[in-house]
Amino acid sequence: MSNYHIKHLEEYYQVYRKSIREPENFWEEVAEEHFMWRKKWDNVLSWDFSKPEIKWFEGAELNITENCIDRHLATRGDKTAILFEPNSPDEPSEHITYNQLHKRVNKFANVLKQQGIKKGDRVCIYVPMIPELAISVLACARIGAIHSVVFAGFSSTALATRINDSDCKMVITADGSYRGAKTIDLKGIVDDALEQCPDVKTVLVAKRIHSDIKMKEGRDQWLQPLLDAAPDECKAEIMDAEDPLFILYTSGSTGKPKGMVHTTAGYMVYTAYTFKNVFQYRENDVYWCTADIGWITGHSYIVYGPLANGATTVMFEGVPSYPDFGRFWQIVEKHNVNQFYTAPTAIRALAKQGVELVEKYDLSSLKVLGSVGEPINEEAWHWYNDVVGKNKSPIVDSWWQTETGGIMITPIPFVTPTKPTYATLPFIGIQPALLDESGEELKGNQVEGRLCIKFPWPSIARTIWGNHERYKETYFSAYENKYFTGDGAMRDEVGYYRITGRVDDVIIVSGHNLGTAPIEDAINEHPAVAESAIVGFPHDIKGSALYGYITLTNPGESRDHNNLRKEINQLISDRIGPIAKLDKIQFTQGLPKTRSGKIMRRILRKIASKDTSNLGDTSTLLNPEVVQDIMDNAL
Ligand code: WT7
Repeated sequence: MSNYHIKHLEEYYQVYRKSIREPENFWEEVAEEHFMWRKKWDNVLSWDFSKPEIKWFEGAELNITENCIDRHLATRGDKTAILFEPNSPDEPSEHITYNQLHKRVNKFANVLKQQGIKKGDRVCIYVPMIPELAISVLACARIGAIHSVVFAGFSSTALATRINDSDCKMVITADGSYRGAKTIDLKGIVDDALEQCPDVKTVLVAKRIHSDIKMKEGRDQWLQPLLDAAPDECKAEIMDAEDPLFILYTSGSTGKPKGMVHTTAGYMVYTAYTFKNVFQYRENDVYWCTADIGWITGHSYIVYGPLANGATTVMFEGVPSYPDFGRFWQIVEKHNVNQFYTAPTAIRALAKQGVELVEKYDLSSLKVLGSVGEPINEEAWHWYNDVVGKNKSPIVDSWWQTETGGIMITPIPFVTPTKPTYATLPFIGIQPALLDESGEELKGNQVEGRLCIKFPWPSIARTIWGNHERYKETYFSAYENKYFTGDGAMRDEVGYYRITGRVDDVIIVSGHNLGTAPIEDAINEHPAVAESAIVGFPHDIKGSALYGYITLTNPGESRDHNNLRKEINQLISDRIGPIAKLDKIQFTQGLPKTRSGKIMRRILRKIASKDTSNLGDTSTLLNPEVVQDIMDNAL
């Protein structure tokens, strides 16, 4: 019997040891007992981090939607699979049962087929948080098409880059979306993007805001009539274990976004197993993750992980502040939410509003409180634990990444004693290591270094779409034979991990992963800009916010700096999206550089954080005079 559901600490250690000593036996047992296979594997694992090549359950055949839907029909057909909560509290929620989900996914899959989509084709999904988003994801998986969900807050340029990078044939979208009191013209954004995407032949449009939009003949089609006409049954495509399931883009520190490729069997097994344990999900629980399906958190822990366990998963269309900052708690009360999973940035924003809006609602259904996306600071941790959890719902600070597919370091609630700001222990099967800058592994406890993983786990991304070399370079070249996460971490005296943050040029703003290079590229497009450097600085709510140092091509020319700031932020918003806008823009005479021409961001970071008592080693600076100038004029 595999230990699918861990219930106490001793059991965790026992299962953990087994998963490390005999990883293949361990994962084989989990896979064997809890999933539906069309054919079992020939080999559990083969791997070589130097290539890198990783294969789990090679030779197995399956379809993930049979695991997420079909196999539950006999016992859970009338159970709610997806509980949709609309943007406005005045609109009724929608309970989609497993039976209904089956029908809707099958119909959608048939529409995709009729529109010429085949196994292996890429389909871009640019849809707000409405049921069609989850259903289109599953419909792609049903027929073996590779979905590439693009968060529906990204700009048309960002969308076009992603569509072209993976050569999507089709885009699924909606007429528009609701976001609190605002509506967003999604279809207009898609139209703009597609000017640059000649290979997109079909656009399917869901109706959400009933706005008056343009439909391009021969390309755009309303989704609903096609669904109405489609048959109710679509045979699941039989997929190989290592067939790609989806591509999801994440920012890199340089260059264009990386299309992380996740494959079928390992991803399914790991997200399902982590979901069950990290949230201690029980049969009639209602689980809610507030993320958007446009991010990995939504893929793994709104759609695949919960549905693979036959869970009820809430999908919320709106924002935490609409119609007021009590909305999350109103929803928890309304649906008796048992497990609640959100981001520190949301917790900080809500904490700022005081306790009245929390205390107004009955939160007694809550059992587990999750956090993800960035380090959770001590104050936010306590507020979450005390005010929301009333000290009885453990805080699950779960560390993971788009690339890891599933949760990697985390407490298991009611099993692992929690500790504020610590993600605590590696999950089953995960072998973390802390390395110093020379690449030596730091043994023992009370050490701090760069966080790597020494052994593959089933849901590790297998490559970057179209660029395996970059995959190798980014994750497997810093340290031999190890996956490098890009994060720093410390290990305390009992072996608990605390993630200290990125050690590369990725900045996490409100839980969104932003690379500095693409933002700088956008700024540098402005004709008045000569050069720019972006750094992060601490922000009460966002965790980190962006500070831009910008030099102008013609510094002598008198210009309205506030106007320039607006233009630059507009450019960033157009190229990347509003999430990447700068909070502060300082115009400088020059940027501090080393003799080899590298911008010394360390100094800029310190100035932005108002931490200038010790700038560290500045002996390699080419132009020390600009540093004084920047400090004198810092914002
Ligand atoms: C980066 C990955 C995985 C879901 C959302 C983000 C940071 C994530 C934590 C945490 C400290 C965290 C890391 C990581 N991060 N969770 N619990 N504590 N930092 O996915 O966009 O791929 O970002 O988010 O820096 O590398 P992502």
